[in-house]
Amino acid sequence: MPLRVAVIGAGAAGLCALKHLTARPSAFTALGFELTSNVGGTWVYTEDTGLDRNGLPIHSSVYKNMTTNLPVEVMAFPDFPFNENLPSFVKHTDVCQYLTDYTDRFHLRDHIRFNTLVELVEPETMQADRTTWHLRTRNVTDPTCGLEDHKFDCVMVCNGHYAEPLVCSLPGQSQFKGLVMHSHDYRHPEVFSDMNVLCLGAGPSGRDISIEMAPFAKQVYLSHKKNKGLQAPLPTNLRQTAAVASLKPDSAVLTTGEELLLDAFITCTGYLYTFPFLAPSCHVKVEDKRVTPLYKHILHTEYTSLAFIGLCHKILPFPQFDCQIRFCLAAWDGSMELPTQAEMDADTECEYKAKLATGEPHRHAHKLAGRQWEYNDELASLAGFPPLPRILQQISDNIDDERTTNVLGYKHMKVEIIAPDTYAFRKYHE
Ligand SMILES: Cc1cc2nc3c(=O)[nH]c(=O)nc-3n(C[C@H](O)[C@H](O)[C@H](O)COP(=O)(O)OP(=O)(O)OC[C@H]3O[C@@H](n4cnc5c(N)ncnc54)[C@H](O)[C@@H]3O)c2cc1C
Ligand SMILES: *[C@@H]1O[C@H](CO)[C@@H](O)[C@H](O)[C@H]1NC(C)=O
Ligand SMILES: *[C@@H]1O[C@H](CO)[C@@H](O)[C@H](O)[C@H]1NC(C)=O
Repeated sequence: MPLRVAVIGAGAAGLCALKHLTARPSAFTALGFELTSNVGGTWVYTEDTGLDRNGLPIHSSVYKNMTTNLPVEVMAFPDFPFNENLPSFVKHTDVCQYLTDYTDRFHLRDHIRFNTLVELVEPETMQADRTTWHLRTRNVTDPTCGLEDHKFDCVMVCNGHYAEPLVCSLPGQSQFKGLVMHSHDYRHPEVFSDMNVLCLGAGPSGRDISIEMAPFAKQVYLSHKKNKGLQAPLPTNLRQTAAVASLKPDSAVLTTGEELLLDAFITCTGYLYTFPFLAPSCHVKVEDKRVTPLYKHILHTEYTSLAFIGLCHKILPFPQFDCQIRFCLAAWDGSMELPTQAEMDADTECEYKAKLATGEPHRHAHKLAGRQWEYNDELASLAGFPPLPRILQQISDNIDDERTTNVLGYKHMKVEIIAPDTYAFRKYHE
């Protein structure tokens, strides 16, 4: 009997899961649940902020003029390149189209229930050592509520982690009279025309948004705690500043004591992991951006039929999703034997402690960055599938350098793949 697998979410991770599952009908039957009416997850742009027409929080964090900060040559799933006529750095609409093409190419649409919110996931132990899963879903367009119950052998959680803003509260913030916005709700730079605006946080969103606003705003401040920050030519009205200590009705006071007059304040402080559908009996803990107890950031060590795809950050998302999903399926189909629960927990703790020992904070528990290559390779060798091509790392490292030293220009570069292990960077002209 094939294992019945539920996939929660039809963004890049959920689509990749469905592709692998549906390719093996003798081992798996799969059903995806997607709360919106489209595939693509965060890449489905919407002008709306706040709540959608079904009264649910808007999922997408993409803004109107966003282009990728990775070239498509390293973004793609291993078996499905982007259209070769595209530049390297593409608009969000191109990524959304790519995911739609992927869905159509692998005939995934028929395996997805759209407008369907997974409200509850709970383990049901029928026999001593066999867990099945009870899912309750809600048809969000059905005025009569449309609740349904389902039973599955396995659950893959692919709900994304850029939808629930991490909101900061600074001393005095409630007195601030200007515009306050989280980057999740940022859509257009024109909103900030002629304003003095401060972006708090110099992660990818903070950098991109502050650069995009500069031609419109009077003055942009990019405030962060990093020692170095951006060391590259920046727009003349974009200034990097120290962290904000407190807010006053129309200004921010920095940790240096300097006071900046402000009309708007954008928090680019990131997002939270949330799994509101997991019952307490799932025994999943989320503590300040660390999700436990997960083996290799994927498999629940107590309930190995519960998996999480895409929790890691500072990585190449689509290629890593593919590795994580293959690893998970090798565990579920029995082709890879898992260590005992105690051994898996020990492995997880060991990795976590080693990370803390290098000075990384707790909230970076799922941040991989330079360790992603070794991690992806380990998944491949444990599960017995081919590792990702080396060239991904080389291009990715090269882009990381460009992004810090040439933040205004790197998106105009084209990555040219010359041979399987050779590439060149050149200036791109449309
Ligand atoms: C601003 C921004 C810029 C980015 N830039 C890049 C980039 O340049 N290159 C790159 O590779 N990556 C980039 N990323 C990372 C991006 O998140 C990943 O590429 C990838 O899209 C994540 O896919 P996902 O499937 O994990 O999550 P998502 O795309 O968030 O998809 C999750 C899906 O789950 C659904 N869902 C959630 N909860 C439920 C529920 N309870 N029931 C049913 N359905 C549910 C949602 O509706 C959504 O469709 C960027 C992210 C952001 C926010
Ligand atoms: C949108 O992006 C393009 C290309 O990156 C840029 O030339 C243009 O000025 C941007 N428009 C706005 C409104 O930021
Ligand atoms: C949800 O409910 C609407 C309205 O009753 C119905 O048309 C639609 O087919 C239902 N969708 C699913 C996936 O059950």
